[in-house]
Amino acid sequence: MSDPKTVAGWLAKAEAYLIGRGVPEASANAEFLLAEVLGTGRGRLRAEGAQVVSERNGLHFWTFVRKRGKRVPLAYVLGWQPFAGCRIEVNEAVLVPRPETEELVELAAREAEAMKLPRLHVVDVGTGSGCVAIALAKRLPGAQLYATDVSPAALKLAQDNAVANHVSQRVRVLREDLFKPRAGAPWADLAVSNPPYIPTAEVDKLEPEVLKEPRLALDGGPDGLEHLRAIAGDAKRLVKPGGRLVLEFGAGQAESVQRLLLEAGLASVRIYKDFQGQERLAAAVV
Ligand SMILES: C[S@@+](CC[C@H](N)C(=O)[O-])C[C@H]1O[C@@H](n2cnc3c(N)ncnc32)[C@H](O)[C@@H]1O
Repeated sequence: MSDPKTVAGWLAKAEAYLIGRGVPEASANAEFLLAEVLGTGRGRLRAEGAQVVSERNGLHFWTFVRKRGKRVPLAYVLGWQPFAGCRIEVNEAVLVPRPETEELVELAAREAEAMKLPRLHVVDVGTGSGCVAIALAKRLPGAQLYATDVSPAALKLAQDNAVANHVSQRVRVLREDLFKPRAGAPWADLAVSNPPYIPTAEVDKLEPEVLKEPRLALDGGPDGLEHLRAIAGDAKRLVKPGGRLVLEFGAGQAESVQRLLLEAGLASVRIYKDFQGQERLAAAVV
């Protein structure tokens, strides 16, 4: 079969191809990919269905479609993901930022504002692409952010993203292992984290797209709580008295996380639901 010539033709061909490979939301995926190649908005594509696509753009689009057909996450194919009003570059070294994590940012920003401090020191533990630290830096103009991770490749990307989003003056990227005992006096006013929280035995059962993401960003140990436990246990060595800890965790983990925070001696422990009605966020006073 010869290649299609028009926008509508390419979209139809891509949709059929992606459906054949089990890609969820094949039509929307095809639109996102073609919009990226043509440098236009997804909404405009349908209106421009009769427009001719150049041979070069057609080839470029098909390279994208084939990659997506291998169940590579859409954001990895595009190379970026929108997050809380920021453009966040992504690659295989980092988790693709999720919409629920925008709610973590919102909650952390509210907790920060409630402290009414003129200059806030905020640490993002397990920063990955840097999305949380960068979005918080934009949301809290008086804050200094520390974005930590153990993955050098993630830290490199987080740094690039901070520069591209014009907050690199206030986002410091640091290699730090949350499992290493912390020395010195607590210095942060707010710690925020979306740590790995999937139980090890569950990781291999995840969707093919998720399995393309780094295991280091997913695997939360045998019960999924290893990182959450370490962060809760370390909170008082990291965050000043009266400061806040804000966490994202998995569906079904709320009770355990609440217990971990209380056992660590934190106060005013609150659990929040995400936009899908699942208990996925916690805030506490250190
Ligand atoms: C679930 S991802 C979250 C990434 C990003 N904050 C987000 O919300 O999209 C967890 C991150 O924790 C990092 N990580 C895993 N183990 C760590 C450790 N021991 N110390 C610090 N960071 C760690 C991973 O490299 C990964 O980037």
